[in-house]
Amino acid sequence: MSKLSLDRILQSQGYGTRKYCRSLIEDGEVTIDGVVHDNFKAAIETDGLVFRLFDEDVVYREHVYIALFKPQNYECSRKPSHHPGVLTLLPEEFTWREVQPVGRLDHDTTGMLLMSDDGAFIHAQSSPKRHVPKIYQATTAAPVTEALIAELLAGVKLHDEPAPLAAQTCIQRGDHQLEIVLEQGKYHQVKRMLAAAGNHCSALHRSAIGGLTLASLGIEEGDWCYLTPEQLALLAPA
Ligand code: URA
Repeated sequence: MSKLSLDRILQSQGYGTRKYCRSLIEDGEVTIDGVVHDNFKAAIETDGLVFRLFDEDVVYREHVYIALFKPQNYECSRKPSHHPGVLTLLPEEFTWREVQPVGRLDHDTTGMLLMSDDGAFIHAQSSPKRHVPKIYQATTAAPVTEALIAELLAGVKLHDEPAPLAAQTCIQRGDHQLEIVLEQGKYHQVKRMLAAAGNHCSALHRSAIGGLTLASLGIEEGDWCYLTPEQLALLAPA
């Protein structure tokens, strides 16, 4: 059980400043169970709360955990410079809630991007100690060879990295297609590893994180969905 004043509730869900949230409440825009609540000081139970605002039912969430199917030409950085940021693909409330990507994908990489406003979750997921496998589908400029796979599995030395980095698994999926599983999340890691092994990555897609696959989420490129506790549990290392 946890009660919050209605203005704090609206603000926590990303509906703007406290002042603006109060004005929405006083204007009679918020209903709960069909009853208008126009007192912003009213203490409301948040467990299981659903309120109605702008003709939409809103489920109260202390934190949000989402997966975005990132398209090409969107940047994960907070201050995007050459392309729109991934937050532009999400409802504006998420920007107010300070939802952030968990790790980064390059602007030209597509696929699964986790996002959340839970700092502890972001920190835990990004921790190098966690060893969460990330599954990538890489298209290579030159044909895939057994020697390339052997080199990626044995480990390649990257500039700025003290020790060689190895793929956890590496499976040929086509003449120019590789499925690469990495436990680390170093800057441009797949592209740099392929370059260090004498090939070139011409396209990259992240198809899964841990046991959670993008295909299982059933979302189209550019779309997002909330993750259930069961789906979040699949992100743990096997
Ligand atoms: N490795 C890369 O090179 N780029 C990404 O976006 C992700 C992993």
